[in-house]
Amino acid sequence: MERIRRDDLKGKIMSAEMASLLIKDGMTVATSGFTPSGYPKAVPLALEKRSLAGEKIGITVICGASVGDELDGALCRSGVMKRRYPYQTHDALRNAINAKEIAYQDMHLSHVSQYIDYGFFGKINVALVEALAITEEGGIIPTTSVGIMPQAIRNADIVIVEINTSQPMALEGIHDIYMTEKPPYRQPIPLVTPADRIGTPYIPCDPEKIAAIVFTDISDKVRPLGPIDEPSRLISGHIIDFLKHEVKMGRLPKNLLPLQSGVGSVANAVLGGLVDSEFENLTCYTEVIQDSMLDLIDAGKVTIASGTALTPSEEGLKRLHANMKHYAKYCVLRPMEISNHPEIARRLGVIAMNTAIEVDIYGHVNSTNIMGSRMMNGIGGSGDFTRNAYISIFTTVSTAKNGNISSIVPKASHIDHTEHDVAVVVTERGLADLRGTSPGERARRIIAHCAHPDYRDQLMDYLERAEGGKLKYQPHILNEALSWHARFMETGSMKAAKIAETGNNEVAPAKE
Ligand code: COA
Repeated sequence: MERIRRDDLKGKIMSAEMASLLIKDGMTVATSGFTPSGYPKAVPLALEKRSLAGEKIGITVICGASVGDELDGALCRSGVMKRRYPYQTHDALRNAINAKEIAYQDMHLSHVSQYIDYGFFGKINVALVEALAITEEGGIIPTTSVGIMPQAIRNADIVIVEINTSQPMALEGIHDIYMTEKPPYRQPIPLVTPADRIGTPYIPCDPEKIAAIVFTDISDKVRPLGPIDEPSRLISGHIIDFLKHEVKMGRLPKNLLPLQSGVGSVANAVLGGLVDSEFENLTCYTEVIQDSMLDLIDAGKVTIASGTALTPSEEGLKRLHANMKHYAKYCVLRPMEISNHPEIARRLGVIAMNTAIEVDIYGHVNSTNIMGSRMMNGIGGSGDFTRNAYISIFTTVSTAKNGNISSIVPKASHIDHTEHDVAVVVTERGLADLRGTSPGERARRIIAHCAHPDYRDQLMDYLERAEGGKLKYQPHILNEALSWHARFMETGSMKAAKIAETGNNEVAPAKE
């Protein structure tokens, strides 16, 4: 099948270098791409070259989520990127954000597309999008992700299309593009099950807007997934036991409710655990489709996986490419405005499973800022799902940095998800069900079931002392609460510092 299906557009084919000249100093560029998949590569590399040759050029970049080195890495290293929204995972970019060399706002992903529509980011000068093909109507068929592409194209002055021939044509038909209108004209979204198709298999685009078409075959630089280690296996096991219990109690149907699972190795392991479980006919309404989803499809456990991006590891990418037609039957890729839509998540009754950096004894979750100060990746879609889920679960390993940091702390050093939205906390040690609990009950459950034994006595000691006195709903000793983090900063170990202070190395028994 031809990649450009309109003759009048063939005259727009040019080199990446020529196309990059359409992007000028001070512009805002909205791109395709989501968790290193489906992002433009050739034009960003050409922009980097221009900058390295001495041209002064600085731009704002808005993507769906994280993208690969050819975009985030190249534009960050060359100094072209001055401002970036909304989620990233690139080391150099993260460092530049923390050094305040690049301005960054961490945002709920479901907000980004409507910010573009509402004009809150200012004018979108260029939409730079990776595509599989351009249809007879001028419609743009995305590749392995959709992200903000529909709104980028709708709002940009001009569109630059990178047709990527390394992306298999078997992807055609996997996309379902539905766009909302702005209030007060917005209508209910007619999606009733995760399998529903409510839009078109391409993004509508006025052909007049297409200013350049570049051909490339640079493939997505997908991220490796860590092996499924023992803590991840244990976390997955606790969640599966919990889900079985909820079915037994009549609070979940036998095939559960649509699953949403976050990014990374633990999230991948959690879904992977379902392969050997008793659950059948599962559905997923999520953001990213990772390797374990392919395992679930192969095991005949999943009837549909709806997301905004295919995010396999290198191994998973080979599997996908070898059998894309088969996997495409089980997957739908939607704009991230729809994949992450709070109203749909609430209505479908999504079971949300996301990852925390730290959780405090009252159930507040930090997913973004190490030691309350240093941006890791961003909140991504975790808040879109967490706030609106049927059951919202957070996972974390109970300690970090070789056991020197407890991931369960008296007071989170930064809060992304509050006690009001977090229903269940899980570590390799166990699971704390926080539904219907008072602060004191919550704290005791989290300490007993989730904290590492090395830290339980310190946490209980803190809680009991904080509870002293009267008229406190959620008791804290403020000057002490955050000193846990200070202890690590000063000595390199929360536990060693406490032992040095008190001379007490005893581990408290788990009690609730
Ligand atoms: N205190 C200090 N540092 C901590 C920590 C803690 N309690 N817990 C983890 N860290 C550090 C780790 O040591 C690691 O540091 P390093 O990069 O220097 O090695 C880093 O944080 C990442 O930890 P890791 O265990 O490798 O995390 P992960 O790959 O499982 O990712 C999140 C965890 C929270 C960063 C990641 O899931 C995320 O970005 N979440 C937010 C977005 C999201 O949930 N998206 C999905 C929605 S669909």
